[in-house]
Amino acid sequence: MAVKHLLNFKNWSAQELERLLELALKVKRNQEQYRQALAYLTLGMIFQKTSTRTRVSFEVAMTQLGGHSIFLDWRSTNLVLAELKDEIRYLARNVDVVMARVLTHEQVQEMADYSRVPVINGCDNKYHPTQALADFLTILEHKGKLEGINLVYVGIHNNVANSLVEGGTKLGMKITTVTPEFNEPSRDQELLDEAARTGLFERTDDLKAAVAKADVVYTDTWVDMEFFLDPKFEAEKQRRIAKMLPYQLNEELLKGGKALIMHDMPIHTGYEIDRWAIESPNSIIFDQAENRLHAEKAVLLTLLGRAN
Ligand code: CP
Repeated sequence: MAVKHLLNFKNWSAQELERLLELALKVKRNQEQYRQALAYLTLGMIFQKTSTRTRVSFEVAMTQLGGHSIFLDWRSTNLVLAELKDEIRYLARNVDVVMARVLTHEQVQEMADYSRVPVINGCDNKYHPTQALADFLTILEHKGKLEGINLVYVGIHNNVANSLVEGGTKLGMKITTVTPEFNEPSRDQELLDEAARTGLFERTDDLKAAVAKADVVYTDTWVDMEFFLDPKFEAEKQRRIAKMLPYQLNEELLKGGKALIMHDMPIHTGYEIDRWAIESPNSIIFDQAENRLHAEKAVLLTLLGRAN
């Protein structure tokens, strides 16, 4: 039987995503019941880029499910000098599941092609599926449903936006993007066309009108993490800041509104969001970040055949 991976949501049906979110809720509410669910199983975690939440949540998830995780920093392993397809074939003979945060989607796809154990995409240039699952779980908890919920994504269209659009439309959510700038390395036109065909995805330039109709407003960084402190990217970073500041989630835009406020973190206060919005009673940012743990437990249990 073919190994199931989580690279994006292309091979995941709406029913599978719904089951996964139901499991995440169940595991979150019945943590004791799952204490040995992954006993003696090991997660290999490969990081080619920085992380706080993805590393912490996957590592804690394995601990709380009775398993073990190994952190592999790309730069301190032989991934720097050997071929990826050989290193992943070796790794898959020792661990039971792999999670990888890599620069390009082609890399995580190559890992899946050569791995005999499930591979989870921990964020690449095109997709961030485990983030989107945590986001859907958080909205489900706060709104009681996903179908018909209007999520407005404000910022630069990027990997996170792709996963929200792809997963959200499958789950019956309405996703509106207000994205005057498109991060071209993240472009997946097939994904956007497919989402548009559902009638649930649209793009607009009218920020105020979109926010007025939103159940949830969501933003993310304007600069990908690998470039944020890169002096060679400084001019492009400043160009983006100047262009994007009118699209900041802030008091002026959101005061008096009912929309929940989301951000996948790390936050760049004063850029894509201001401190008022972060601390607003409508902000569910820290619930969202916590839910990485619970959603990832459901992913691990599902891919390892321990969902029941
Ligand atoms: N949201 C997210 O992926 O956080 P980290 O980059 O800290 O893992």
